[in-house]
Amino acid sequence: MIATVRPTRKLEGEIRVPGDKSISHRALILGSIATGSSRLRGLSPGADVQSTLRCVQELGAVVEGTTLAGCGIHGLHQAAGPLDCGNSGTTMRLLAGLLAAQDFESEMVGDESLSRRPMDRVVTPLREMGARASWPPLRVGGETALHGFAHDMPVPSAQVKSALLIAGLFADGPTSVTESVRTRDHTELMLRAMGASVEVDGLRVQVTAADHLDPLDLDIPGDISAAAFWLVAAGLVRGSRVRLQATGVNPTRTALLGMLQGCGFEVTVSNPRFVGFEPVGDLNAGTAHSLKAIQIQDGMAAEMIDELPVLAVAATQMPGQSVIAGARELRVKESDRITAMEEGLSAMGADITATDDGWVINGPRELEGARVNSQGDHRVAMALAVAGLIAQGRTEIEGAECVEVSYPDFFDHLEYLC
Ligand code: S3P
Repeated sequence: MIATVRPTRKLEGEIRVPGDKSISHRALILGSIATGSSRLRGLSPGADVQSTLRCVQELGAVVEGTTLAGCGIHGLHQAAGPLDCGNSGTTMRLLAGLLAAQDFESEMVGDESLSRRPMDRVVTPLREMGARASWPPLRVGGETALHGFAHDMPVPSAQVKSALLIAGLFADGPTSVTESVRTRDHTELMLRAMGASVEVDGLRVQVTAADHLDPLDLDIPGDISAAAFWLVAAGLVRGSRVRLQATGVNPTRTALLGMLQGCGFEVTVSNPRFVGFEPVGDLNAGTAHSLKAIQIQDGMAAEMIDELPVLAVAATQMPGQSVIAGARELRVKESDRITAMEEGLSAMGADITATDDGWVINGPRELEGARVNSQGDHRVAMALAVAGLIAQGRTEIEGAECVEVSYPDFFDHLEYLC
């Protein structure tokens, strides 16, 4: 599908972005081993979370409407065939942690993009725990004597951290994971809410074996990584005012807000509250004033890894030189996002140079509509659509159907707000 985006005079209105993708995956995976039925309202409607849903159903969980009947901590059964994780790295890595601890073997497969992504980062530590695990193809499980261990994570990754914590629920001693940067902590919060023993000490998280997990009763907040597209778009288009209701504002996810505010964007959180164990608020965005170049290095990049493609779009409008560095991980996401955004924004007239681990972007530059390619990557497609809203003329995005992965209503919301 080719999506056509035209410049807009302003963005205005109030929407609810889809349910948080990270929390949705975790709720389905951990709910599948809870004792009893979980109520999960507002799950992400995206294809990634549908992949997780189908996988846990194949493993024995029963889902009807918003109710997920868990199998109990030792109640999963072997799927009839390989588990299809689609495009979803979170599905594959988190399930690898859970399934490595089962007494049956599981194979996990994915689409072309997922098949290229590195899985040794979960396989190696799972083997250190005594699990049977190999890749490629990704096969885990069949050896249940897992040992707790202490793991220092070489690359900050909430997916790897979560996989090891979930495996740790089945290990014969404490399992701890130490990060260099605090990544999203939804797994820790959820496990604690389900009655597991989780201790957090600075950058170190420790779990001990659980003999059961309580079911969840959850309203899933809006996904701040989806909200990011509208925060940037509203900031860049004069006269805009957008409100994003009930969006997750977990502090491990909000580095983007501080970054945007520091660069002159008008972004506020109103009506802050807790919904269950996750902080939530309404996000308000208006036109940015006195813009400043963006500077992101090292650990900062890990804290807003999913928002960097749209921040690159923002950087094209900032005066001076923006430097986004420390983001090598972008090269192994759903696409090589560093190259994909360099190609797309260059075609639109931006002054952007890819580096090993990010971009150098000189601005402000007036963008021109062009034919660009999503590279089959949902966040690239949506970031280029935001660029299209501020470009002269018509922008055509090839492969735009991939927004289905996380935000099926993205183009409807775009039309509504413009
Ligand atoms: C996610 C963690 C991040 C992020 C991804 C979702 C998660 O990946 O990019 O979109 O839900 O744990 P990494 O763990 O690879 O950094």
